[in-house]
Amino acid sequence: MSLSTKDLISIRDLSSDDLELILETASGFKDVLGRDIKKVPALRGRTTVNMFYEPSTRTRTSFELAAKRLSTDVISISVSTSSVVKGETLEDTARTVEALGADFIVIRHSCSGTAHFLARHMRASVINAGDGTNEHPTQALLDLFTIREKRGSISGATVAIVGDILHSRVAKSDIYGLLNLGAHVRLIGPPTLVPSCMKDLGVTVHYSMEEGLRDADIVMMLRIQTERQGKGFFPSTVEYFKNWGLTDARLAHAKKDALVMHPGPMNRGTEIASAVADGPRSVILDQVTNGLAVRMAVLYLLSGTGQ
Ligand code: CP
Repeated sequence: MSLSTKDLISIRDLSSDDLELILETASGFKDVLGRDIKKVPALRGRTTVNMFYEPSTRTRTSFELAAKRLSTDVISISVSTSSVVKGETLEDTARTVEALGADFIVIRHSCSGTAHFLARHMRASVINAGDGTNEHPTQALLDLFTIREKRGSISGATVAIVGDILHSRVAKSDIYGLLNLGAHVRLIGPPTLVPSCMKDLGVTVHYSMEEGLRDADIVMMLRIQTERQGKGFFPSTVEYFKNWGLTDARLAHAKKDALVMHPGPMNRGTEIASAVADGPRSVILDQVTNGLAVRMAVLYLLSGTGQ
């Protein structure tokens, strides 16, 4: 049991069998995480290096913890106190950590394609922890895991993804993974953030919350990516919430038992009301919990240990 790829760069590189294998393996690790002793010796002697060139709470801490739970040695490079500030290139930094024995390099960067670039130059397994507006594959994997855990299956589910699709690497990875496993995907948001050409991906595009949310099984909200936007995508955050924010009244258009998801961090009052974020249908913290088991599965399966 291992993945056919050395690296995890894009959800598009994974077959449906690969996706199922990751979700099954994560399920086993979730059981391990429920035990008194949450650590396994599976990857003892291996080394994981986290290189985060952009801020992160969930992804960085869960990769660090996942690596520790698998007994790898872990180093997290803080870019602001590293030789990057002296002008060292990304490739030289990565080669340096590889020379120190890194087996896994987990990289987040503001430039799309960074993880792909590194993977071509490294012997170590490179894992994309988010590259620009391109992809965030482990977020999609934990989202798939959470949907399957809560609903029993992904195939046939109607998933409404709402908000800043244009700048969202999470949305792109989720779309590819959900379609691969047989879900129906709707994209909802203002035309400036959800161009109609996105329907070429095999999804439907909606410019009305009421229409797009109707009878949805899953409502996946996205953060407004102010750090990647210029001005002019919408008049103000107040206007945005009025038109695209998820409130209890809007959620009533989805199925009665619809799940509410958000990759975090949330902008409460901009894309989601606190009453919904903290309400009975929210699985937002379950997503965070599941991220740990999913990232353990990814490290484990990329190591080839299971062969
Ligand atoms: N969802 C996500 O990537 O969160 P962080 O930016 O906190 O890692």
